[in-house]
Amino acid sequence: MKLWGGRFAKETDQLTDHFNSSISFDQRLYKQDIIGSIAHVAMLGAQNIISMAESDAIINGLNSLLEDIEKGDITFNEKMEDIHMNIEALLISRIGDVAKKMHTGRSRNDQVALDVRLYTRDEIITLKVMLKELMQTVIALAKDHTNTIMPGYTHLQRAQPITFAHHLMAYFEMFKRDFKRLEFTYENTNFLPLGSGALATTTYPLDRDAVAKSLDFNGICENSIDGVSDRDFCLDLLYTLSTLMMHLSRFSEEIILWSSHEFHFIELDDAYSTGSSIMPQKKNPDIAELVRGKTGRVYGNLMSLLTTMKGLPLAYNKDMQEDKERLFDSIDTLKMCLPIFTQMIKTMRVCKTNMYTAASGGFTNATDAADYLVKKGLAFRDAHEVIGKLVLHCVTTHTTLEELPLETYQMIHPIFDEDIYEAISLKTCVNERQVKGGPSEKAVTAHIKSAADWLQ
Ligand code: ARG
Repeated sequence: MKLWGGRFAKETDQLTDHFNSSISFDQRLYKQDIIGSIAHVAMLGAQNIISMAESDAIINGLNSLLEDIEKGDITFNEKMEDIHMNIEALLISRIGDVAKKMHTGRSRNDQVALDVRLYTRDEIITLKVMLKELMQTVIALAKDHTNTIMPGYTHLQRAQPITFAHHLMAYFEMFKRDFKRLEFTYENTNFLPLGSGALATTTYPLDRDAVAKSLDFNGICENSIDGVSDRDFCLDLLYTLSTLMMHLSRFSEEIILWSSHEFHFIELDDAYSTGSSIMPQKKNPDIAELVRGKTGRVYGNLMSLLTTMKGLPLAYNKDMQEDKERLFDSIDTLKMCLPIFTQMIKTMRVCKTNMYTAASGGFTNATDAADYLVKKGLAFRDAHEVIGKLVLHCVTTHTTLEELPLETYQMIHPIFDEDIYEAISLKTCVNERQVKGGPSEKAVTAHIKSAADWLQ
């Protein structure tokens, strides 16, 4: 028997039931649905819309149903369409007719909006904990590598020497912004839609503020039409998670490059790598590749829901049932990616010597050589030209700026002196960059400290 069957002269087709139903995926909202109903029914009792005895009976029934669902004793029914009607039908069969009063002054439209908001709130808390663990791991790793010199790149060409800590802390900043976006999304989610009814509230004297308070919301959705039509909070989360995946994907891309034989800057732990079924020598960075790959589905979920919402007239439309799978998929994906990514970087081995060797080739100290001339009085543009000539000389004679004898330097410009070698040593290049935000041990250590303080 359908809960809305009264107006119908005929059974729905099986295909209709199957097509229309969302229970296969919205059953994960059972807890939010029950908690929301308990708050609603408690308010109905307090407002004398139903009797206190009826309110208590329904609340007791809902609590016992919650226990049984949690034990795994309940199977849901596709004919009952969604989690809201499944729970109502189960409650009626459990405690009888009094359960039919539960839906007084409520619609599934404000009920589903409530459930999704409660669910999103809970998941944001979990995601924040996971992201925080990743950020802590980045900080711990950075602390160990404030002196680990590596080449910094632009255009994937060796550019200037930096430290591994400096590079890692760039990701910390990205994750910090992601964290703030999660907090922003939580704030936008944290308003109570219940009481909006189907779209135009109700004639019963509902106390929406009391329900908001009992469910720990920051306030109520101020307009009932918006209350049932708004999925911005889902989109905020989908965008936040897309950007977080973009950051994880860029980090993954570097891990994949760095673990290649060509770079060999890191070695992934065996526990977080995989082999090949044919090539016995292979050790593959599958985890990083999958994180990079899964970024596509998370972007897709955002585009999908944006497209679903585009052009929907106010207020509720069934199209909006499509919000949940997109939202759940992105949340599930991040809940898989974040912990394994954290473990992967926590356990990887950093090959300091290879990083240093890479920084020593490719003229990453050429800017510093030019700056040396500037300090001796040359204009930067002229210094650039002089060092350019020296680099060309080194390239054609297969040598480096460090190895070039002083006579060669002086042949190109008489101003060069013995102190050039000190000025272009990688250690000098890194540690003289004391500007805030830069790679020197001093600057990065200060950043690590402020980052750790922020995380507390
Ligand atoms: N399963 C529906 C959803 O997910 C619940 C709301 C249905 N409301 C309605 N009037 N058909 O959006």
